Amino acid sequence: MIKNIPPMGWNTWNTFAEKINEELVLSSAEQLVSSGLKKVGYEYVVIDDCWSLRERDRSGALVPDPEKFPHGMKYVADALHKMGLKFGMYSCCGGMTCASYPASLNHEYADARAFARWGVDYLKYDYCFKPSSVDGKALYRRMGTALSGCGRDILFSGCSWGSDNTHEWIGTTGANIWRSTGDIVDTWDSVKSIIKQQYAILPYGGVGCFNDMDMLIVGMHGKGHVGLKGCTDDEYRLHFAAWCMLASPLMIGCDVRNMDETTKEILTDPVLLSIAKDERGNRPYFFHNWNNDDWTIFVRLLANGDIAVGFFNLSDSGVDLWLSADDIGVPDFSGKTLSGVEAYSGASVRAVNGVLSKELAPHSCAVWRLQVKNK
Ligand code: GAL
Repeated sequence: MIKNIPPMGWNTWNTFAEKINEELVLSSAEQLVSSGLKKVGYEYVVIDDCWSLRERDRSGALVPDPEKFPHGMKYVADALHKMGLKFGMYSCCGGMTCASYPASLNHEYADARAFARWGVDYLKYDYCFKPSSVDGKALYRRMGTALSGCGRDILFSGCSWGSDNTHEWIGTTGANIWRSTGDIVDTWDSVKSIIKQQYAILPYGGVGCFNDMDMLIVGMHGKGHVGLKGCTDDEYRLHFAAWCMLASPLMIGCDVRNMDETTKEILTDPVLLSIAKDERGNRPYFFHNWNNDDWTIFVRLLANGDIAVGFFNLSDSGVDLWLSADDIGVPDFSGKTLSGVEAYSGASVRAVNGVLSKELAPHSCAVWRLQVKNK
């Protein structure tokens, strides 16, 4: 089924990789509820790779690892549903998952039925060990068809990292979201590189099949599986703001049981979430000022006629960015002007003589939700 807004939730991979179990998943889910994250939209709890035994059983079925998930997956699903959350799982179109667990190649229909029986609401579908003799798009179409007929509304999350020109065919597979890049890691360089890879593919996102820029690293601070160096809080702010502006899924990747206040503030910023969850799903577009593609302005027309504008300074030096209101559809002769509120700070902002401007420190951003008003 079409999803009008990109999914939001939490995924086990970034922090925990193979160190997952029922207790971790359910206690993290409880934390999503008690911290208020669920209330603002983070509703999917996704178990990524490494949840099954290394072999299928004699009947060919996938078997949850009894040491990690002693009560099985239906139990996890029921517990999550009771909390008002949704349940996500993971498989892969190849013979094995990326971490070498059994995957769904040639088992697509049986696996989709099992996921439906277990109460799964979301399937992340990876691209490792895809036989070179078969087209990835054929395998994704196969799982898309299997999921469509499995008797349950399961969000199909394609994860082929943009390979094989994914953007050209993903919309034909039934996928609701598609991973456009390789894996994120918890460094500034990774965030910057993923943002810069979006310029060319902005036309291939939005309602129908959202472009997935990968799980969030906000609040990881160098801890966990993709932990590496970590980022500053300003870099995390910019990362989250870009994912919201570009309508990416928002899947938290930090340990939500140990979040600091700043992390929570970033993940729940009301201005950014109002942009991320805008149901019209208009495509964002961008400007590069002065031919420097480290200074980027993303713009998105919202459902009620507001305009989201984000100034992003990806460079290592400070910069004064500006944008003419005329360039985003509000010329001076229209008698209209722009004013609104800035994400994170809540400061008010308005165009002065038809221009929005802001001085930005290195690796920082300013995002506004602007109304078009009479002068
Ligand atoms: C990668 C995928 C990651 C994670 C990992 C699990 O291919 O991009 O997000 O799912 O596999 O092994």
